[in-house]
Amino acid sequence: MDWFNISIESYDSQHPAPAGCFFVQTLVDPIDYLCIRIECGMNEQPRIGIIGAGAMGSSLAAITSRFAPTAIVCREPERAAQIFEHGVRCTGALEATARPVIVRDAAELGEIGGVQYLFIAVKTTSLQEVCEELAPLRETIRQAGRPEVKLISYQNGIDPGRAIMDMLGTTKVMRMVLRYGAVIRDEHGTVDIIMHDPPHFIGCLDESIRSDCEYLAKHFTDVGFGTEYLDRIEVPVWAKGIINAAINPVCALVNADIGSVFESPSRELVVRMLDEGEAVARAEGIDLGQNFRERALELASKSTHHLPSMVYDIQQGRPSEVGQLNRQIVDRAKALGVEVPTHETIDALIETFDWRVYHEKI
Ligand SMILES: NC(=O)c1ccc[n+]([C@@H]2O[C@H](COP(=O)([O-])OP(=O)(O)OC[C@H]3O[C@@H](n4cnc5c(N)ncnc54)[C@H](OP(=O)(O)O)[C@@H]3O)[C@@H](O)[C@H]2O)c1
Repeated sequence: MDWFNISIESYDSQHPAPAGCFFVQTLVDPIDYLCIRIECGMNEQPRIGIIGAGAMGSSLAAITSRFAPTAIVCREPERAAQIFEHGVRCTGALEATARPVIVRDAAELGEIGGVQYLFIAVKTTSLQEVCEELAPLRETIRQAGRPEVKLISYQNGIDPGRAIMDMLGTTKVMRMVLRYGAVIRDEHGTVDIIMHDPPHFIGCLDESIRSDCEYLAKHFTDVGFGTEYLDRIEVPVWAKGIINAAINPVCALVNADIGSVFESPSRELVVRMLDEGEAVARAEGIDLGQNFRERALELASKSTHHLPSMVYDIQQGRPSEVGQLNRQIVDRAKALGVEVPTHETIDALIETFDWRVYHEKI
């Protein structure tokens, strides 16, 4: 760390920092941003921004901070205060701790000097809101001296990467498929990594950002978060999307973890939905390889104690991600003429909870 020259200044968010500076916040007040300004030779080093300070965004920040200056967009003051005080900390199947810079919204990423890579780690239900916020900011949050900001979709489901491309009118969006499960556990906001089964995957549809995928894959791997660049990212995207669509809503409907579902009669529903999902993938021209059902069940059985986030969504009366999981499979099945009766039933039941949340709001 001998390349730091540290000076302390009170940072007023009305007055942007000179390009090339990076901020480390002190413990005084996360919202008033009394900062230690670190002038360092980091102009050339890509910086990372993360939108969303939930289980995934926080664990990601703990990992990326090992190889790049990282800023996390945290809009909730209580969560910001937790991160400010304790840092982002993962325990369990993956151990990592870091103190990322905290900002309140995406616009502030520009005020701290911009970022080269921006991970979107919010739920799919918040994607539209985030894209509307990002649309006018693409240039102002660009890291000085570096090419345009590259976005990375960190969501589950088949289409979020494409949804971001459509909403922002760019093909420069990478997609990651994660093979870990995480939940925020205690009053310090520690993230419990319930399962970590690398490799994770990264890919894109636009060849011009392939080198960015490879850059991130290499650096993730170097810091112990094994990640592979894949030419055909669609295969793991579909595989993971189908597995989530088969398991998460069943756990949510019976209010149980994966292990309890697998030991119960509702396991049969999971099996049927895996088979239906595979049939849709096949009709779409996606080859999931031999014995998909067995491999999927084996993967899921590594996280038997995991309560998928859809369980919490239903418990806490929040909109679920069923639209990005089962409904996308149902819609594609209809278009392709594939029968998916179990998906249709389960989807309608979960959508009934979402419908109730929607009607309670208006
Ligand atoms: N958890 C897992 O094990 C896991 C595993 C693989 C993939 N995933 C996927 O990863 C994604 C994120 O999951 P998660 O478990 O981290 O969800 P989460 O705990 O709900 O976290 C999402 C965070 O994003 C924040 N957010 C929403 N809109 C925002 C905005 N406009 N600006 C700033 N922050 C915003 C939310 O803040 P508020 O609380 O204020 O809304 C929340 O803190 C989901 O698509 C999920 O399916 C999750």
